[in-house]
Amino acid sequence: MPSEKTPDTIAIASDHGGFALKNELKQDLMEKGYTVLDLGSDSLESVDYPDFGYALAGAMKEGKAKRGVLICGSGIGISIAANRDPGIRAALVHDALTARLSRQHNDANVICFGGRTIGPEVARDCLNIFLETNFEEGGRHSRRVNKLSDPR
Ligand code: RB5
Repeated sequence: MPSEKTPDTIAIASDHGGFALKNELKQDLMEKGYTVLDLGSDSLESVDYPDFGYALAGAMKEGKAKRGVLICGSGIGISIAANRDPGIRAALVHDALTARLSRQHNDANVICFGGRTIGPEVARDCLNIFLETNFEEGGRHSRRVNKLSDPR
């Protein structure tokens, strides 16, 4: 079950390359008691990853979810798309360490996976860590994250 410190609604989206992993992670999240806002895609039909990265960023901007999960084949294209929104800090992660650091150091609000590069067990582990780890607020990490919202 989500604890008080964790967000209870998670937005999730993928292209065709992330469709299978999206379904697995969505199922896990629902079993853990999260409400999942699934923004597609809905099949293995070829689609364009920016559309799904932007849809998730838009939903988060509207306050529909505080955390998001994005998946494309490599995780690269969809993370680039989401990060074009200044309110998004989307982290492409590959293992438990990068998942943990994305929260502790970067206050990432979106986790990204490559559906063709990561196995479902590792992705599940990363997602749990992402949802349960706090940002190390204050000091150098807050200073650096604040700079991300104010690019020059
Ligand atoms: C789709 O074939 C693939 O290019 C896409 O899922 C992603 O890997 C792009 O970065």
